[in-house]
Amino acid sequence: MRLDKASPTGIALSLLLASFLAPSTFAYKPLSDNFLRQVPAASDTELDPVTGDLLAPFLQVRPPDSEGHADIQDHLVQFFARELPDWTVEWQNSTTYTSGKSQKGGKFVAHHRSNLVFRREPPWTRPGQANLLTLAAHYATPVTAPAGYLGATDAAVSCALLLHVARSLDKYAAQMYREMQELGEGGTVPMDMGLQIVFIDSGGLDDKDNTGAESLASTWEKTINPALPASLYGYPNRLNQISLLLLLDLLGGASPRVPSRYQTTHWAYQAMARVEARLRGLKLMDSESTGKFLPDSSSPVHQLGMASGWATDGDDHLPFMRRGVTVLPVVPDAKPEHAGTLKDDGKNVDRKTVRDWSRVLVGFALEWLDMMEVEPAAPARRRRRVPAANRA
Ligand SMILES: *[C@@H]1O[C@H](CO)[C@@H](O)[C@H](O)[C@H]1NC(C)=O
Repeated sequence: MRLDKASPTGIALSLLLASFLAPSTFAYKPLSDNFLRQVPAASDTELDPVTGDLLAPFLQVRPPDSEGHADIQDHLVQFFARELPDWTVEWQNSTTYTSGKSQKGGKFVAHHRSNLVFRREPPWTRPGQANLLTLAAHYATPVTAPAGYLGATDAAVSCALLLHVARSLDKYAAQMYREMQELGEGGTVPMDMGLQIVFIDSGGLDDKDNTGAESLASTWEKTINPALPASLYGYPNRLNQISLLLLLDLLGGASPRVPSRYQTTHWAYQAMARVEARLRGLKLMDSESTGKFLPDSSSPVHQLGMASGWATDGDDHLPFMRRGVTVLPVVPDAKPEHAGTLKDDGKNVDRKTVRDWSRVLVGFALEWLDMMEVEPAAPARRRRRVPAANRA
């Protein structure tokens, strides 16, 4: 068969080739100490379980099709419209059916799922051109949970952290994109980087339910991007645009230990662990006595953890991983003490630890997106450092 360049096959083939030939390494530049000192932490006020604008809205009973579930969707759409108007909003809705064996007549039961996706892409990129650091967490609580279950660590805190990352990165992204546009830059993999935040509608049946993630991954795999001119590279489908998927879950307990689970993302894990170590070295972490959150930077990858059943078919990252997306799960190796119980409410969230996660995640995202380009000036008057022993 002769491959005409203009034929659909020819175009698909050149797109495929382009995606192989495009440099796959990113300019990963560590932040300076000055920038690390200015990495914003989610504040105690923002994390207040009753009044905080980051955490409180998620702390409600929220299985699919419930009032709380719809309320969180409204909240997310409004939060971005109000505070982050440059981000695009996308719903990915689906209905799947299971046979209701327990029900009389064996009727099929419909499950509606709504994933919410917010994106900040470089303004010059065409659809399919930007590569996207993607952070995700699930927002529903299971219908099988005890009545009144608020699921703070499952996964309201993770959702709050996603909002914090989006809000913290936005102004730097705006500045970086503006400066690059003024210089006429863009059009290469390291320059066309954006950020994508996904609220996955999983976990609504039970804690093994990942129907939302499965629907999103399979839809994106089938969503073919429009062909770009030969002079531009592009990604064949929406799934290929994910440069790295950080999946957050079960965060909010004290002394978390997140192992490195996959060899393919061990280098990204190590980069995040270096951010944590440097923040600790600069005495910028609040949870000083608890040890490292990311302890495996020099030890081998915990493939054993997988073999012993850590990854179950119900985990949200697996539908993406099976389709070739590189995934770094930011999920502790043990469930927080109160996860799955009525005590998993906002009151038992360890706010120091959450503040520290917010610093680590923002620091990592800033490095990934090469934000040293827009490093803020050092504050004029340097604050005297308070010795660790004198801190609350
Ligand atoms: C998706 O479902 C939500 C309700 O869960 C609805 O508000 C929204 O309009 C739907 N969007 C699309 C594009 O179908």
